[in-house]
Amino acid sequence: MPNQESQSQIAPHLFVILGATGDLMGRKLLPALHHLAQQGKLGPRSYVLGAAVDTDLDDKAFRARARRWLVDDGVSPAELEAQWCNQKLFYQTIGSGGADDYRALAARITAIEKELQLPGNRVFYLALPPEIFPTVIQRLGEAGLSEGPGWTRLVIEKPFGRDLSSAEQLNAVVHQHFEESQVYRIDHYLGKETVRNILVFRFANSLFEPLWNRDRIESVEITVAETLGVEHRARYYETAGALRDMVQNHLTQLLTLAAMEAPAAFDARAIREEKTKVLRSVRPIRLEDVVFGQYGPGTVDGAKVQGYQEEPGVAKNSQMETFVALRVEIANWRWQGVPFFLRTGKRLPCRMSQIVINFRCPPVSMFRPFDACEIHANALVITIQPDEGFDLRFEIKAPGQEVELQSRSLHFRYSEAFAPLPDAYETLLLDVLLGDATLFVSDDWVEASWSIYTPLLHNRPPVLPYAAGTWGPAESNHLLRDLGRDWSAP
Ligand code: BG6
Repeated sequence: MPNQESQSQIAPHLFVILGATGDLMGRKLLPALHHLAQQGKLGPRSYVLGAAVDTDLDDKAFRARARRWLVDDGVSPAELEAQWCNQKLFYQTIGSGGADDYRALAARITAIEKELQLPGNRVFYLALPPEIFPTVIQRLGEAGLSEGPGWTRLVIEKPFGRDLSSAEQLNAVVHQHFEESQVYRIDHYLGKETVRNILVFRFANSLFEPLWNRDRIESVEITVAETLGVEHRARYYETAGALRDMVQNHLTQLLTLAAMEAPAAFDARAIREEKTKVLRSVRPIRLEDVVFGQYGPGTVDGAKVQGYQEEPGVAKNSQMETFVALRVEIANWRWQGVPFFLRTGKRLPCRMSQIVINFRCPPVSMFRPFDACEIHANALVITIQPDEGFDLRFEIKAPGQEVELQSRSLHFRYSEAFAPLPDAYETLLLDVLLGDATLFVSDDWVEASWSIYTPLLHNRPPVLPYAAGTWGPAESNHLLRDLGRDWSAP
């Protein structure tokens, strides 16, 4: 975000990816690095060392696999940076992941750096199942890889723990070997342009900030809706569910960005501090303010789909939630009494991530004596995806003799003003290389967030059924009953 350095200042480095034959590498990391290389953003002396358990791979086979992945990802042979694949990628097995394997990894890193005359700047990216994060971090530390001749940075993908105590344990292991300033925890929502824009929108415009408080705002709704089901990820999802997979991280990041105070400076430390402060003011969530749901069979995008329990790999009587809606209250001077409603689910009617700021209605209406004069409150809709942009809804008088009020909107759409938005991973990987931690998750944010949700993991609400292709269990509308309305229409 506040990159002071230009991309040309990216220092020569070795980008070590642990788990380099996995899904994340093929779908996200490799395409992002390739695209950055294509655009010349990585600098001329950027190298990738893939490390994984496969013992039958060598540099040549790994490069061939990388080319195949990129083509499968839609890169045409003409666009393929074959030279990058053939000269910048290396492979090293970490066998069964024992201490010797990590010593061999350290030796290979040193050998590559010597051969290419690199200064010893290293990124270690854990594209691995979260259960093995602690062991791998331990091994890296024991092999002397937590510090090198240049800078060393550790990148961890969410989930950061499964609850408060496991998150604390993970942070403790990380801090045993790495300084917090070396650690980059990725929540890919923070790399989305529209999410990055929330702070600019709030703090570079004087129009909204004076209204951004309990006097003028009635409620805030944050929805992240997906049409996809659990896909091939049942093994992971059966141990996670929507609260861990989406709410504790992505939705709560959106909540903190929407609710935080203006930071003292536009830098990583100040921004991350303000975000964590919001979480420390969140009141314990009451069980009656939470709705869990699970999709049954239904129709999505015109196609019949099966229910969650029929998905491959899901237990027939699984009680895992694929939908969560809840009400959060922030007990501070700005937000006391303003409910924040969070909602996410799989197999909902459309793919849509939105923050809706509902302003209060005028205190009195002088239009009441007329028919068709119900006043709809102003609303600001921030659309994170798709069709990224803003809508500001206001009331007008429809033309004609009668006084008739209608709601209309001012729109802004990124697609109308800019070239396609960059992929979140590209932004985040570049920031890791630039040493800018603004868009990454701090240790205390993770723990503060788990403190809010861990009680709901121990004392779970019932999981209510909903048909795929609907907006979750009808009970989720009851959360807004004090306001006398349902969730805003998408
Ligand atoms: C991931 C979750 O973090 O985010 C997935 O594990 C979810 O379950 C995905 O589908 C949603 O991301 P996006 O960018 O498609 O909204």
